[in-house]
Amino acid sequence: MAEKLLEVKNLRTEFKRDKTWVTAVNNVSFSIERGEILGLVGESGCGKSVTSLSVMRLLARNSKISNGEVILNGTDLLKEDKKGMRNIRGREVAMIFQEPMNSLNPCMKIEKQLTEAILLHNDFTKEQAHQRAYDVLKSVGIPEPDMTLKSYPHQLSGGMCQRVMIAMAMSCEPELLIADEPTTALDVTIQAQILELMEEIREKKNTGILMITHDLGVVAEMCSRVVVMYAGRIVEEAPVKELFSAPKHPYTQGLIASVPKLGSGVESLPSIPGSVPDLSVMPKGCKFAPRCKYATDICREKEPELMTVEGIHKCRCHHMNDLGKEA
Ligand SMILES: Nc1ncnc2c1ncn2[C@@H]1O[C@H](COP(=O)(O)OP(=O)(O)OP(=O)(O)O)[C@@H](O)[C@H]1O
Ligand SMILES: [Mg+2]
Repeated sequence: MAEKLLEVKNLRTEFKRDKTWVTAVNNVSFSIERGEILGLVGESGCGKSVTSLSVMRLLARNSKISNGEVILNGTDLLKEDKKGMRNIRGREVAMIFQEPMNSLNPCMKIEKQLTEAILLHNDFTKEQAHQRAYDVLKSVGIPEPDMTLKSYPHQLSGGMCQRVMIAMAMSCEPELLIADEPTTALDVTIQAQILELMEEIREKKNTGILMITHDLGVVAEMCSRVVVMYAGRIVEEAPVKELFSAPKHPYTQGLIASVPKLGSGVESLPSIPGSVPDLSVMPKGCKFAPRCKYATDICREKEPELMTVEGIHKCRCHHMNDLGKEA
């Protein structure tokens, strides 16, 4: 079996709100192999960004990782100190953040932002760092890297900023790339180019990618496996084809049913009723039970475990084996 690039085990991340701690990510475990693209999906607020920021150790001040391990290349990142993490970030793991405009420094030219990271991780002269910055911008399809290097972020379009963000993440050739909604803010043609670019990078460098997205179309196209999160937990995990052809969790079924299909002629799509529970008032049993049409007493009483459906397909539902029969 291929060596795991990343292994997240029983991760729990909490936030302090009004003097009490609430759990945003609970007992989350998954792994990524080299060269593999793992999709992470779920509604807004389900804990996707918190999971990725926990891996990067870039959480807000009011947070703590209270349990788990994040093993990258055999090293537990949760045991690293600040200096250790600075060395690992960029070189071994890099992230494309959800809001590119907020993650580029508005007061610094692109050249400085790019070369700073390159100089931190390589024994380069300034000229060599400039050359690497130029090359990496070229490789993400920026037509005039010189002009872009001399620009401030506000002088660039959203699509260009996104490319710069990808260039920055790729500049030190990380083994793991975390892409948090990398294309959500972009129009479809640029979105397609960026996804193609990420696929190219993966092929060339055997990079492992954690692809966080709302867009199940992107998942179907790019990912080999998918993890579905709900209310800070993993509720289903499966190879991509199996997830779309035979989703087991009612939540996953709802997500898939709410995606428009070309030529289906359906005018109004079914949506999942209700909303994600507030972290401070989580229901007792299955966190999805209040929104689930199949929920019974046991669902409201006892939280189901993540159980094996078949092979590497897992699901967290008391009724996963009888749902198909009723429908
Ligand atoms: N700094 C913080 N302090 C308190 N709560 C937080 C903080 N950051 C995130 N949360 C909470 O953690 C939960 C998970 O948030 P997260 O940003 O991971 O969601 P997400 O799945 O990335 O959503 P989206 O799809 O909108 O990006 C939410 O309830 C959110 O309000
Ligand atoms: Mg997010």
